[in-house]
Amino acid sequence: MEVSAYQGAITGAYIIASILFILSLGGLSHQESARRGNVFGMAGMAIAIVATAFHESIESYVYILIPMLLGGAVGAWRASRVQMTQMPELVALLHSFVGLAAVLVGFSSYLGSEGLYSGAEKVVHEVEIYLGILIGAVTFTGSVIAFGKLNGFITSKPMMFPGRHLVNLAGLLICIWYGHDFIRAADIPHGMTALVIMTVIALLFGVHMVMAIGGADMPVVISMLNSYSGWAAAATGFMLSNDLLIVTGALVGSSGAILSYIMCRAMNRKFVSVIMGGFGGQTASSGGGQADHQGTAVEISQDECGASLNNIRSLVIVPGYGMAVAHAQHAVYELTRRLREKGVNVRFAIHPVAGRMPGHMNVLLAEARVPYDIVLEMDEIQEDLPATDMVMVIGANDIVNPSAIEDPEGPIAGMPVIEAWNAREVIVLKRSMASGYAGIENPLFFKPNTKMLFGDARDSIEGLIAHLI
Ligand code: TAP
Repeated sequence: MEVSAYQGAITGAYIIASILFILSLGGLSHQESARRGNVFGMAGMAIAIVATAFHESIESYVYILIPMLLGGAVGAWRASRVQMTQMPELVALLHSFVGLAAVLVGFSSYLGSEGLYSGAEKVVHEVEIYLGILIGAVTFTGSVIAFGKLNGFITSKPMMFPGRHLVNLAGLLICIWYGHDFIRAADIPHGMTALVIMTVIALLFGVHMVMAIGGADMPVVISMLNSYSGWAAAATGFMLSNDLLIVTGALVGSSGAILSYIMCRAMNRKFVSVIMGGFGGQTASSGGGQADHQGTAVEISQDECGASLNNIRSLVIVPGYGMAVAHAQHAVYELTRRLREKGVNVRFAIHPVAGRMPGHMNVLLAEARVPYDIVLEMDEIQEDLPATDMVMVIGANDIVNPSAIEDPEGPIAGMPVIEAWNAREVIVLKRSMASGYAGIENPLFFKPNTKMLFGDARDSIEGLIAHLI
């Protein structure tokens, strides 16, 4: 087959875009190069869109430009207004669009395929359609439920229906059965029946799967849905015979799978047990609700806490979701700067699932220009905690919960946490005794060396800065 110069230029542009996407992923793996990684990603996407717009098969630009302008305008409007704390929900919503797109492209591809393929080529095309719609439908509803769980529309507690494993197994078997029917269907109306039945089951499975997953496992779910959205995009690429979409989808799919593995390791969980659901929240009061008291928590005033800060030589700050809610990162930077000027060894301990999205705390601290070399991973700093004068927990809760270690029967048993209680003194900055995302009580608040500084994290830190001498 002769390749026109025009087609060759588009293929060349696709190769450049693919290389830029790979460089982008490489850049995003380190804080120092993350900004550059984003620029590579944006450049790659711009090249991909322009090259696709010049594709030979495009006959009219009207149907492309109108939705592009509409979608682009809505996307730019939402992205410019989204709060940092709402980013995970936005990402979940965007994943759901990828899933929905795969479903729609699958149906349209099937409807438009009559007479185009025969023999083995037809079977391969139909397998692509069936798998693309299956993955897309699960991604779509799974991401919508994840969106609801992240913004609090839906409880973070696992909702486990009796006999759910049997229901899932039955769903899988029906999908396989109808897959066989679909490939053997004599005409499009017959194939369509099988496709619609499978789509409905896959949509319900997406809901069922994510509803059963407890708060503490949500990080794995988010990265897993990220991976699914990549595979859904790759399947769409196969259906449309678009190499760039295949490469990009595979990059997102495999990097999401690696992230899921990293998240599972961070939570000391097996991927299969995450899918089975239930971790975190079984004994919970509702996420963010009032935890049952297990003793007396000791409150500390700003004056007392300020006095303590003036006498320490080492401080480890553990930031969590509450720091993001309070927009406290700039105040935290100022406190850090002032204490370092006084000769205090200030460092940050970052838990892999702190906040609501991978790297959430690193992004916030980088935005506030906290030096990278004092921002350490949980494993890098754990051993130093017993020799640390003070650990300051800022809006964190689940990630410093000692019941993960002390209560082998507890809902988060085995999850690695930052062992803040090993320091000489622990100060917890939060507004109340409420639980965190996993909805479980936190015995750290009742330890003899822990004191609670109640209030919005930013207000508390600004108050503490004023007490520094
Ligand atoms: P959480 O356990 O959710 O605790 C955050 C705490 O911040 C709350 O207890 C809350 O207590 C406090 N807070 C909220 N607003 C505040 C404000 N304005 N000022 C001061 N404190 C405030 O957060 P974490 O320790 O970062 O743990 C993360 C949790 O989210 C884990 O369970 C994790 O599995 C889950 N999760 C993580 C991800 C990813 S990928 N990172 C994704 C989904 C879910 P008050 O209301 O009393 O102030």
